[in-house]
Amino acid sequence: ELKKQTQLREVAGVLLQATSVDNWSQIQSFEAKSDDLLICTYPKSGTTWIQEIVDMIEQNGNVEKCQRAIIQHRHPFIEWARPPQPSGVEKAKMMPSPRILRTHLPTRLLPPSFWDNNCKFLYVARNAKDCMVSYYHFQRMNQVLPDPGTWEEYFEAFINGEVAWGSWFDHVKGWWELKDRYQILFLFYEDIKRDPKHEIQKVMQFMGKHLDEAVLDTIVLETSFEKMKENPMTNRSTVPKSILDQSISPFMRKGTVGDWKNHFTVAQNERFDEIYRKKMEGSSINFCLDL
Ligand code: PPS
Repeated sequence: ELKKQTQLREVAGVLLQATSVDNWSQIQSFEAKSDDLLICTYPKSGTTWIQEIVDMIEQNGNVEKCQRAIIQHRHPFIEWARPPQPSGVEKAKMMPSPRILRTHLPTRLLPPSFWDNNCKFLYVARNAKDCMVSYYHFQRMNQVLPDPGTWEEYFEAFINGEVAWGSWFDHVKGWWELKDRYQILFLFYEDIKRDPKHEIQKVMQFMGKHLDEAVLDTIVLETSFEKMKENPMTNRSTVPKSILDQSISPFMRKGTVGDWKNHFTVAQNERFDEIYRKKMEGSSINFCLDL
């Protein structure tokens, strides 16, 4: 069975796809350039959404230009490796500057040259409970990630960081801690949902772009969940069923805040809040646990 062949392997205590680990020396020696912009997220935190927002800004709101390729091909994914196809590192090398790249790596596994070159980082964080729910459904439909097991089993795996790209807690804390030392724009999924125009404006300024109000309104509209769910260039509909089986759960699943309330039992929620407080103790990041 294909699904069971899927392997995760550990690098410095973080589980990654085995194919990335096989390619690890190439990934670690990645040569960043000072004008690179790196989109950074823990999985299922709004990566695709912020990618489309960034591309729409880069293309000055030109919808046709954003249709030039599927979103996975527009921004090379640094740790992606699936031979014989070119790896994320190889794709990035072929890309003209200024490059926009993406990663799910936690800070301590990031290729060091990103820090050395003082690149711009755009981090999007999503509240842990919704992230867990989204990741659970993603692992059900993703045939190249391990089967998530039951919801109860997945709950344990997620809080223990036994999922691809490791612990949500370590990831978010790590990036948050560095946000004032490097050029990191730190955004929240929930804020983009609440006031997309305001957050898109922040991204625009961070990218050093100036766009009119009308263009910003177009970007808000085109990057809405409803539009992106219908857009074949963003909804992963071109990915074969042997990799993403959208009949199990769509990639553009719900796109809401608070879906965890439909999954967590009262007991799980209480336990989660307690674990959350312990794991995030000492961090100044302020997530509402009851969104
Ligand atoms: S991945 O596989 O890690 O790159 O996934 P990622 O893109 O980070 O996260 C997928 C979740 O983001 C939701 N999504 C959106 N929400 C709101 N608005 C827009 N435009 C949007 N686009 C994607 C997507 O539906 C997944 O969340 P869930 O909760 O599963 O619906």
